[in-house]
Amino acid sequence: MSVDGKTRLTGVIADPVEHSKSPPMHNANFRALGVNFEYVAMHVRPEDLQTAVDGLRALHFRGFNVSVPHKKTILPFLDRLDAFANDCGAVNTVVNGEGRLTGFNTDGPGAVQAAKEAKADLSRVVVVGAGGAGHAVSYAFAQTGSDVTIANRTFESAKDLAEKIGKKGFRAKAVRMDQLGKSIRDATFLAQTTTVGMRSDESVVPKEVLHPGLTVLDAVYAPLKTRFICDAQSRGCNTITGERMLLHQAALSNELWTGIKPDVPAMEKALYEALGKT
Ligand code: ATR
Repeated sequence: MSVDGKTRLTGVIADPVEHSKSPPMHNANFRALGVNFEYVAMHVRPEDLQTAVDGLRALHFRGFNVSVPHKKTILPFLDRLDAFANDCGAVNTVVNGEGRLTGFNTDGPGAVQAAKEAKADLSRVVVVGAGGAGHAVSYAFAQTGSDVTIANRTFESAKDLAEKIGKKGFRAKAVRMDQLGKSIRDATFLAQTTTVGMRSDESVVPKEVLHPGLTVLDAVYAPLKTRFICDAQSRGCNTITGERMLLHQAALSNELWTGIKPDVPAMEKALYEALGKT
């Protein structure tokens, strides 16, 4: 279907945005479903965020994704937050319902979906990191009934997050980084949500604490084979690389805009093509 006067617009706002794999994934789904939607990448600098959000509303965008560095700072410019996004304090998806912008967070549910697809045992989950991704992933696993342990370089952030999750009636506790190894020994699942591994061949998780009883997920997808993933593979862990979480958060976002179950295999094919893999 070609773009015409009735095309419903969607996209992503980020800074930088050129690296984004979201346009091919979302557009592949729109083509597969035969719906008249289009998805574009939009470079929005932090100082232009409010103007951009007001502009997207004025232009009647159906919705848009929100990526780094806007996931938290966008909150005051939205009309509503769904309960999960409110708990996470971060938004990665906005839906425009007749001029009212509602913020959602599909990053956490996307991670849970990636873990379930890998048939991982989610009874005892360790989350490393308590930033935006750490919040979303910790909440999502806690909500699915996992016993969640959060470790972060800045212990207070992990502690605050665990307390907030606990107040919602879910099971979460915080540990200091020097207790990470002990927590991992008892865990069935480990989610790496820090930004370490994106720019350097480093991991925040010591290799020797990884064990074959563990499924691990890295939220980082560039590179796909992070130091953490390589270490986990060499220690016999079941590994989930970051693009699986990227795929599933995208599928969940797409459905919020179209109201139609997405064609996940079509999105997956487009994603791997964009990543240079077939
Ligand atoms: P995102 O939205 O991608 O999660 P973020 O909110 O900036 O990004 O969070 C980054 C996470 O990576 C935090 O958990 C951060 O730890 P701090 O809370 O102590 O800052 C973690 N992180 C970043 N660099 C790190 C490093 N060199 N060692 C350990 N943790 C690091």
